[in-house]
Amino acid sequence: MTHRFIASIAFILTLGSLHAASIEYWDWKSIDTNAISFPKNFLFGVGTSAYQVEGGNKNVWDRWAHEGKCEQAAGQACDHWNRYHEDAQLIQNLGANAYRFGVEWSRIEPQQGVFDEAALDHYAAMCDELLKRGIAPVITLHHYNDPIWFADVGGFEKEENIQLYVRFAKKVIDKLHNKVHLWLTFNSPTSYAAKGYLANRMPPGKKNMQLMAEVMKNLLVAHVRLYKAVKHDRITAHAQVGTLHNICQLEPARMWDKPFALLGDYISHRCLYNFFKTGVFRFYIPCMGYVYHKEPDAPKSLDFIGLNYYSHFMMHGPKTSTFPDEMQTMCPDKTIYPEGFYRAIKEIDAHIAKPLNVPIYVTENGVAPVKEEDRELFLRRYYYAMHKAMNEGCDVRGYFYWSLMDNYEWGTMGKKRYGLYHVDFETHKRTLKSSAQYYIDIAQKFGNKFQMV
Ligand code: FCB
Repeated sequence: MTHRFIASIAFILTLGSLHAASIEYWDWKSIDTNAISFPKNFLFGVGTSAYQVEGGNKNVWDRWAHEGKCEQAAGQACDHWNRYHEDAQLIQNLGANAYRFGVEWSRIEPQQGVFDEAALDHYAAMCDELLKRGIAPVITLHHYNDPIWFADVGGFEKEENIQLYVRFAKKVIDKLHNKVHLWLTFNSPTSYAAKGYLANRMPPGKKNMQLMAEVMKNLLVAHVRLYKAVKHDRITAHAQVGTLHNICQLEPARMWDKPFALLGDYISHRCLYNFFKTGVFRFYIPCMGYVYHKEPDAPKSLDFIGLNYYSHFMMHGPKTSTFPDEMQTMCPDKTIYPEGFYRAIKEIDAHIAKPLNVPIYVTENGVAPVKEEDRELFLRRYYYAMHKAMNEGCDVRGYFYWSLMDNYEWGTMGKKRYGLYHVDFETHKRTLKSSAQYYIDIAQKFGNKFQMV
């Protein structure tokens, strides 16, 4: 009861103290996007995730698609599982010195408690292939890809299942700790919880605020428990472990939309920031959801923080839309808004990086443009925005463009093409896009080959 009372006060104070950020636009005609530079050892990376590229994976997404909840399953996707040698060469051709990829839990642990050494060997070989080319392997342990058996025992809805994730993830780290530069425990805990348990946009497709808050808390707790398991083990203690947060600014369309924007901001961002800053997960929305949990080691559980940023939304009541005057993309919910990238870096810096004294990696940023030439414009402006934030003191150590190649975009294939390489999903042929040249120019100018220490 006392907790609930304190939570109510905190909720009111949080909402009261927030101001919807005023929308910032820069005068791009007066900006020289060539006036950028990056420090030595900066990581110029590209990213993918297991289910989106590997092919042949049977996890909750496969089931979701076969139940008709989305247009299609990934099927053979980009056949990356079989073509990783070729793909490592393609990464090298870009001049990139880092590759963020996911591991597939359902391959590594096809049944609860049964581990497949051959799958782990496969990822070890992949890391070796990258390292020999001067490319840093960066692994995401969980990218929306729950095994079916895990979902069927209640997934992250149940606190007692946290240890199943920790056991799997620690096994992967035990195997690969000498080959991997950075470990990401989850791809965006808040997005997983909100899309799967509130917005019905991902498996399991529930709409339940209380459950969403519990899942969010369980993911964050799982992150901390894994971090501790890694650091308490003398052999793996050197591994660099972090998680990532996706920022999407929610801007009120009109004065009276402000409470919705603030509420969205509270759910999507504030609970996570508070958890890492204070070690307390406190979620309270009157009559809709209440979770209170203490994890005192949370503030000491990050070696770095990842940031995913794409764009911002306008809120009309609880509904969202894009900004009609901004450059549109192939995604109906994303425009080209580099100023927002700058704001997001400043935000993650102020709420996580500076208070916890950890560096930032941009773990995802990219575009599926309407016209190919927009990709170069996107990259020029987003790089400029990042460079500006870095000049103002944000410790950004790397940037991973999403994505290396066109891939399965959670429900469809080939409609939203984020890749620097075009993929023909019939033949799996990869072709460099002309718009990738700007990425290559910058990576070649400022990037150095990576070497594992
Ligand atoms: C991100 C996801 C990534 C990809 C991009 C476009 O939020 O993490 O898998 O779908 O959006």
